[in-house]
Amino acid sequence: MSSPLNPTLSTPTIGVFDSGFGGLTVLRALIARIPQARFAFIGDTARLPYGSKSRRTIARYAAESARFLVEEQGADYLVIACNTASALALDAIQEAVPSSVPVIGVIEPGAEAAKRASKTGDVLVIATDATVQSHAYAAACQARGLRALEKACPLLVPLVEEGWTTPDPFAFSGTEAHAAQAAAAPPQVAVTAEVFRIYFAELTAEAASLGLHPDTLVLGCTHYPLLKPLIQQAIPAGMQAIDSAESAADKLVSYLETAGYPSAPSAESVEFASPETAIRCFATDSVEKFERLGPRFLGRPVGQVRLVDLGG
Ligand code: DGL
Repeated sequence: MSSPLNPTLSTPTIGVFDSGFGGLTVLRALIARIPQARFAFIGDTARLPYGSKSRRTIARYAAESARFLVEEQGADYLVIACNTASALALDAIQEAVPSSVPVIGVIEPGAEAAKRASKTGDVLVIATDATVQSHAYAAACQARGLRALEKACPLLVPLVEEGWTTPDPFAFSGTEAHAAQAAAAPPQVAVTAEVFRIYFAELTAEAASLGLHPDTLVLGCTHYPLLKPLIQQAIPAGMQAIDSAESAADKLVSYLETAGYPSAPSAESVEFASPETAIRCFATDSVEKFERLGPRFLGRPVGQVRLVDLGG
């Protein structure tokens, strides 16, 4: 096991957790906002997917990863970069670590982003089975005056984990550029696009039957931002596809500011912003796959991914 990172006030250690690689999309947003921090990321790839499991199992798995990040990696803050764990296990995670470690989930930030984006007040949410069954998004949206219609899309996570996405989903931000990239993608990407289109058609048909006028699609799974080029192409012009990565990063920044961490990187801490020193990635299985696909999610090298055995 590698030695713990040593937190100092100028270089907080942020522990980031997902069931797989999807949480790297959140890590990407965190690094952009807080480059001075040190990051330890764990993907529980041995036990993925969480989205088809029970609350009890998800809570047990998530608590083990949380303890690893705090006890063995010295995390001062935890970001649960997994909608499923955020929806079903946030309390269990907070109980598993000292109360001095703030735990930030992605559901509330996702609902907050939906609130900012939607003009009609009607939003669509796509997520894993477990997240949808928890209705965590519906509740978080309702608390903000939004009506949310949720749909489970269980085939999307395996397709993303298989790498059946456009080669560099984050290279372009405009809809046209996304469309161009989707068109130039390898043939298996067409399968992913078709799967999304079918789910989305079912969802919009249900929304219409309920008299909803959705203008926002919440990507309620941290794997889905990888599908953004395909999604932008399939949804109506004028509908926004949003994810919680940016909002979660904003939330962490406000925690850090409240705790008195410098808001601008210090000269000493910038040193840690290089991939080798700032980010430690761990996985409970499939290390090679993580190293191969991780850069696609993170937008930079993931460095050497270390294998961790969390037991159970
Ligand atoms: N990335 C997880 C999420 O955001 C889903 C993956 C899984 O099913 O484990 O919900």
